Amino acid sequence: MRKYVNEGFKHILHGGDYNPDQWLKYPEILSEDMRLMKAANCNEMSVGIFAWSKLEPNEGEFNFEWLDKVLDDIYANGGRVFLATPSGARPAWLAEKYPEVLRVTPEGVQRRFGARHNHCYTSPIYREKVAIINRKLAERYGNHPAVIGWHISNEYGGECHCDKCCAAFREWLKEKYGTIENLNDKWWNDFWAHNYNSFDQIDPPSMLSDYGVHARNIDWLRFVTHQTVDFMKHEISVVKSVTPNIPTTTNLMGFFRTLDYREIAKYIDFVSWDNYPVWHGDESDILSASQTGMVNDLMRSLKQQPFVLMECTPSLVNWQAVNKLKRPGRHTAFSLQTVAHGADGILYFQWRKSRGSSEKFHGAVVDHEGSENTRVFKEVSALGARLKKLDEIVGTVTEAKVAMLYDWSNRWGLEDAQGFQRKDKKHYETFRAWYHTLWKRGIDVDIISPEDDFSKYKVIVDPMHYMVSNEMGDKLKSFVKDGGSLLCTYITAMVDEYDLCHLGGFPGAGLREVFGIWNEEIDTLFPEESNTVIMDDGREFRAVDYCELIHDETAKVIARYNSDFYSGMPAATVNEYGSGKAYYVAFRDTGDFADSIINTILKEQNINSAFDGDLPYGVTAHSRTDGETIYVFVENHTNDIQKVTTKNSWINVENCESISGEITLNPLEVIIIKKKC
Ligand code: GLA
Ligand code: ZN
Repeated sequence: MRKYVNEGFKHILHGGDYNPDQWLKYPEILSEDMRLMKAANCNEMSVGIFAWSKLEPNEGEFNFEWLDKVLDDIYANGGRVFLATPSGARPAWLAEKYPEVLRVTPEGVQRRFGARHNHCYTSPIYREKVAIINRKLAERYGNHPAVIGWHISNEYGGECHCDKCCAAFREWLKEKYGTIENLNDKWWNDFWAHNYNSFDQIDPPSMLSDYGVHARNIDWLRFVTHQTVDFMKHEISVVKSVTPNIPTTTNLMGFFRTLDYREIAKYIDFVSWDNYPVWHGDESDILSASQTGMVNDLMRSLKQQPFVLMECTPSLVNWQAVNKLKRPGRHTAFSLQTVAHGADGILYFQWRKSRGSSEKFHGAVVDHEGSENTRVFKEVSALGARLKKLDEIVGTVTEAKVAMLYDWSNRWGLEDAQGFQRKDKKHYETFRAWYHTLWKRGIDVDIISPEDDFSKYKVIVDPMHYMVSNEMGDKLKSFVKDGGSLLCTYITAMVDEYDLCHLGGFPGAGLREVFGIWNEEIDTLFPEESNTVIMDDGREFRAVDYCELIHDETAKVIARYNSDFYSGMPAATVNEYGSGKAYYVAFRDTGDFADSIINTILKEQNINSAFDGDLPYGVTAHSRTDGETIYVFVENHTNDIQKVTTKNSWINVENCESISGEITLNPLEVIIIKKKC
């Protein structure tokens, strides 16, 4: 049941973005890099990410000698390479000769040369030029023993409003809706006389047109995903035609708003992503660690197999408002936590700090000082030594019994919806808050999409799922009927996948029957307001932001509002449906209520922490398995010594010592223990 990033290199990867193309005039630095990579216990380098102008300095004139040497040297040094396609940034000659490769802004302005992510995904010329350089790279390095993966482009993102992209959008709409009448109906275009006579009249949303047709906004974002994926598939098809056996990835960015990563994940061999959380900032490091766990779970769940952390900083970034150093030990805890959630690689941006331009003060393994004698280098090297001992973890997977649902279209529709709290409906914060109740208990969680299989889970937590298709409603219905516990909240199933409101009472899509409630109205509170909710056992909770006025139809009421004109109405319910239960929380709480109800649900479904003992706040656990052995990572995300107690006997993976009874964890310590399943 193990799944590998690369079948031929079964080690945890440790390394990062390496930009020798910036240092070709410094040969002594390039040879020093090889010595330092060994000293840092690195075994991987991602090469060539923005190297197009060094690889093809003029149109049709290629220069690969420098890259030959880099790959040979890394391999001779025991390392492996993710070789990048350089499409993330184009050379000046390309932009000058073929301006159509540059992006057009929503206001219709053609951009000038400069920056990255500044290319049209539709332009046939850009596609042709990318194909040429990708093919050359594949032909030259496809058999190079160092190459273990293709790093396709870099952090795809953004949109283009050129004529070609607009035409492609119209074609995409035609394909989706068939007739213009159908599109007019689905977009509700009778409103404000928005009916179109033909597809040719449709523009993407922009300030020049409007953002008021929400279905168009959502379809535009779906199209942007489609076109980006189409471009990526083009890049991949070229390299795969020459090197069918080299796995591909592209580096994602977690909950990045404007691309539906489920679509991208379908066409790459493994997921990789870039993570730069804020540590030691306004919120506690425990919450930052919880968020890190959550995003890793989303990234792992895209393909339900190990992923690679393609970029992180060993020390600090340069683009946050305040660029604070990660405190000693935090990087190690963060990295091992990432492995706990399914990473088979911890890679940095970047290996060596640039000498000039905007990223010269971004953290890197090697500082401008240039030696191995820095605090950061030493922590990286010590981490590398630990990762070397984790070969047996490589390829193991997580078997979660709890899932949360995340859907990009839902996010787009909800954020756009004119109503509720307009400025920020706080879907992300709400999602985080529910995730946190699971994280702190050491529960393994998958973050899946409505398209995934629900049947392998016992619990689904699905807050603020505003956009629910009838198909998804049916899947949730079967999930509960077959014995699952489902939890949803206020603002559930109000619109379908076209952003049309469900008729016949919320929650729609058949869920009124599943929850046994009717949500008649929603009261949005001003920020300074709150209500009180009282549970049947007398416990009181605060309600903020949203209070829905729901009626229990077949559901049992578990909490009621205590004030305002809806005092006494249900605030939370549970409905027995088939052999399962559907919980509905009609108000936004401040954490305690979610915690209490999650506790009830987990008990009811007999779901336990990955670690068998109690976990103090800030200590958590996650597991990976190959079906025979279970590996548990016990993580202390606090700055204090913590103790946990196990009833089992374990082996410490790194030093093979037996472990039982009380375990002491130093501040920020992560231990990895195993036993037979
Ligand atoms: C992104 C990019 C990198 C670099 C880092 C800096 O993740 O992919 O090239 O710019 O940000 O944090
Ligand atoms: Zn374009």
